[in-house]
Amino acid sequence: MAWRNAVKLSKVKSGNLRMLNLGSKIIMICRDGDDFHATEGLCRHMRWPLSWGGKIEDGCITCPLHQTRHRLDDGELVEWAPFPLFPPYGKFVGKLSKKKNLKIYNTRMSGEYLQVYLD
Ligand code: FES
Repeated sequence: MAWRNAVKLSKVKSGNLRMLNLGSKIIMICRDGDDFHATEGLCRHMRWPLSWGGKIEDGCITCPLHQTRHRLDDGELVEWAPFPLFPPYGKFVGKLSKKKNLKIYNTRMSGEYLQVYLD
């Protein structure tokens, strides 16, 4: 339960996703314009690392595997595993796990670092 230095601000470019371990947590850090975000690092659907091909668009993070999408400001689920589009297979993949929101961590800038609050 404390603020932790996560990464130097200069190392986080807009649209660039980074995965790191902080304490016992796997965290995904990204920058969307002037905004920094920290989320749990693994997709809620089947635990794919979001920094491995995840896309930031319209304030959301989309997992590359089955396109599950969450809002970056509060982690709310927008779309659950819509891919692949072929209906029978897509429905099956989506039911492999329960729909969940993405955990979001508070961030702040401190000197040359982005800090993440671990609760
Ligand atoms: S693992 Fe991310 S959408 Fe399936």
